Amino acid sequence: PTSVRVADLVGRMTLPEKVGQMMQFDAREDLDHIVLERFAGSILHTSPERVLRAAELTRETRLRIPLIVGEDCIHGHSFWEGATIFPTQLGMAATWDPALVERVARVTAIEVAATGIHWTFSPVLCVARDLRWGRIDETFGEDPFLIGELAAAMVRGYQGDGLGDTTAILATAKHFAGYSETQGGRDASEADISHRKLRSWFLPPFERVARAGCATFMIGYQTTDGVPITLNNWLLNDVLRGEWGYTGTLITDWDNVGRMVWEQKIQPDHAHAAAAAIRAGNDMVMTTPAFFEGALDAVALGLLAETDLDRAIERILTLKFDLGLFENPRMPDDERIGAVMAAPDHTALNLEVARRSLVLLRNDGTLPVEGAARRIAVVGPLADDAQTQLGDWAGSSGQVDWLDDGHPREQISTVLDGLRQLAPADWTVTHEVGADILTLADNPAGALFLDGQPRPQIVVPAEPDAQRIAAAVAAAQDADVVVAVVGDRIELVGEGRSTATLELIGGQRALLEALAATGTPLVIVLLASKPLVLPDAVRDASLVWVANPGMQGGLAIAELLLGRIEPTGRLPISFAEHVGQQPTYYNQIRGQHGDRYADLTQRPAFAFGEGLSYTTVEYDRAAISTPRVTAGDTVRATVRLRNSGTRPAHEVVQVYVRDCVTSASWADKELKAYRHVDLAPGQSIVVELEVSVAECTIVDAAGNRVVEPGEFELLIGPSSRDDVLHTVGFTVVE
Ligand code: IFM
Repeated sequence: PTSVRVADLVGRMTLPEKVGQMMQFDAREDLDHIVLERFAGSILHTSPERVLRAAELTRETRLRIPLIVGEDCIHGHSFWEGATIFPTQLGMAATWDPALVERVARVTAIEVAATGIHWTFSPVLCVARDLRWGRIDETFGEDPFLIGELAAAMVRGYQGDGLGDTTAILATAKHFAGYSETQGGRDASEADISHRKLRSWFLPPFERVARAGCATFMIGYQTTDGVPITLNNWLLNDVLRGEWGYTGTLITDWDNVGRMVWEQKIQPDHAHAAAAAIRAGNDMVMTTPAFFEGALDAVALGLLAETDLDRAIERILTLKFDLGLFENPRMPDDERIGAVMAAPDHTALNLEVARRSLVLLRNDGTLPVEGAARRIAVVGPLADDAQTQLGDWAGSSGQVDWLDDGHPREQISTVLDGLRQLAPADWTVTHEVGADILTLADNPAGALFLDGQPRPQIVVPAEPDAQRIAAAVAAAQDADVVVAVVGDRIELVGEGRSTATLELIGGQRALLEALAATGTPLVIVLLASKPLVLPDAVRDASLVWVANPGMQGGLAIAELLLGRIEPTGRLPISFAEHVGQQPTYYNQIRGQHGDRYADLTQRPAFAFGEGLSYTTVEYDRAAISTPRVTAGDTVRATVRLRNSGTRPAHEVVQVYVRDCVTSASWADKELKAYRHVDLAPGQSIVVELEVSVAECTIVDAAGNRVVEPGEFELLIGPSSRDDVLHTVGFTVVE
């Protein structure tokens, strides 16, 4: 059995070999040193050449322990030129469809595994809070229940039929826990968060995937209650290992252990930092080269016993045995790569997800653009920006900048490409950029990023470019409809790239104002990594939000604009009216009578769950079948839906629970169930809905998750907005 093989190997390892086994190195560094002198357990940021070379070197080491290779393949295979790049997690979340997300993860695993990578640092289970945070795009949005549903699906997709299957890759639940609770949206700032708040909102998705067998967890950068999560005994040992019984492997985020010395200054040196990290239960240490000397010194100084490392080594070796790496090191396989990379069925799935990720937020009747010969002006800086469309962690900019040429342009369909491809032959499609968002300047002395490379400086133009705007206005005046594709360019997205504003950057605002003034019907495609704020001048314009939609995004958007498909996406996150309203998530604690500003309400521009169709769907006859229930029961209700328009509808029926009186302050409503329903024009359907009473919990003042008997309400409808929800009551009796 594996445990015997592991024990045998651990018994034969020297201390330096054990320390190295706990370390994950950046494979772009000197591989000879990493493998032969540091006995690395793992590498990340690889290429097939580096994987092959590292494996070759491993065979020269005494124990020939195979390396485990990790990568951030978070919405497709991020660094493989020509792999399938799907919409970002936030885009996937707009589908509200775990089965679809599971298929995305399966395809990703198949492409990733073929290239000799065994481990993806995905999914992200952070709960989106302050929208200024640069990593909102990597989340599944703001609702813990929806996050848990989608994350569990993604883990299933990555890990497939079990780790022994050569198309399975290890999933990572990250960033454990509370990383998204930033200060002012700034990345990796102190997470000022109580245990009760963690238990209420941030931990439930992690608990779900921990119990569902997610192989690894990544420990976030942040500090909470003065203790970095890397050393947070309560979170790592009492909760994760203890209460949830998690037996998987923990990996730190990038240089978490070194940061305790050079950044957070809570450990005097690497020996103390290494000793503390090992004692707290970390298994693999990402990219802290000085951990090697630090851990050796810690043992020499008596801060650690050599055997203190054994539990971590056992977990790492167990993973390697479970993956079968000793028998089959799972190297890059050219034949498999040729067969699977961007295979037609993968591309078809990508298009399906992109379609489902589009959210129609407003329609003044301009959409869909159909009928006789039409002239469409496509304007805006993102109408033909292939790189932004792919999103972060996907190519030659953003976090992943080591792909020389990025993804082949012809594999990516921008909005302009899509409209040109699909518009009937007698229509005209013109194009103007209209505005700049930013330019990049060399920044040799500027901030270094994680890998030590300076990031270019972002320069926002002081004034809009009048000539560009004039050209776009002329194109709009000459058109029957103008499609403006605006949003945030890829350089404004990602780790260490939070924004102070949510407004459109550069000349985009002036562009929209000028377009609105032309009187030509205006459709805004907000291609944005996160909810952004639009200027007042376009308050009534038709609006489609799309997160970075991946390779097929432009085609999907064109299909939607031209009415070839129906809009089906729903917001997984609320949109603010103004940046100063942060945070705007729907499930805030009730009873805050200061929930408005002197100059603005706290109402979001668009709320969690919203999304229109090209038809109208009416909800009525909400009824409860189980008015009195006990804690072990299921609440059952029905609602009737009627498609009163002339086009098909795909509706996401949402069910929120309100606990009318709680012993501790709590959210006014929480999503607990949803159902996808298709309705033909004129069709009526009675939809049956269920919520188990065990889910109708709060976290009480002592931090316990409990069902409190008493009066409850189910709120049923098409979004979290109170004015569209139908309420039925039920009582939970002891
Ligand atoms: O996986 C990522 C993490 O999300 C942020 N820091 C770097 C890691 C490795 O690239």
